[in-house]
Amino acid sequence: MERTFIMIKPDGVQRNLTGAIILRFEQKGYKLVGMKLLQISRDLAEKHYAEHVGKPFFEGTVSYITSSPVVAMVWEGKNVVSGAREMMGATNPNSAAAGTIRGTYGLDISRNVIHGSDSTASAEREINLYFTPAELIEYSKNVDRWLSE
Ligand code: TYD
Ligand code: MG
Repeated sequence: MERTFIMIKPDGVQRNLTGAIILRFEQKGYKLVGMKLLQISRDLAEKHYAEHVGKPFFEGTVSYITSSPVVAMVWEGKNVVSGAREMMGATNPNSAAAGTIRGTYGLDISRNVIHGSDSTASAEREINLYFTPAELIEYSKNVDRWLSE
């Protein structure tokens, strides 16, 4: 089953949005298979945002993501990578559709509340950055049969 890496960024944790955001993923039907609260190191932040090294927003993004704890999660479900990106909305909360997570909770691209992997390859890379295999739990839920055939 497909998995994606989701992170509630420092602003989301500080603004007490953790529960509300997790609720959306639960209610959609995705399954939580890993979760931790952590303070990201500079080294991990640089690895996470490696594709953006040298861009004008890189330094600001790294210092923001390391400024306060984040909630890192792995969610599982059918087409969860693209589905989670749809739920999150556009990178800039200012243009994210109303009702999406960024559209509902954010105002500015530099404080956009949530991260989600942009492809299955990114998901695999990011999951491995934040979690060991033993920290990801495979389990069944009785509700699974009500979510798909
Ligand atoms: P990006 O990977 O393009 O967006 P997404 O998070 O939707 O995958 O950019 C990574 C983060 O960098 C983004 O969430 C917020 C920050 N950022 C800026 O601060 N300014 C920018 O112009 C861009 C493109 C991103
Ligand atoms: Mg990205």
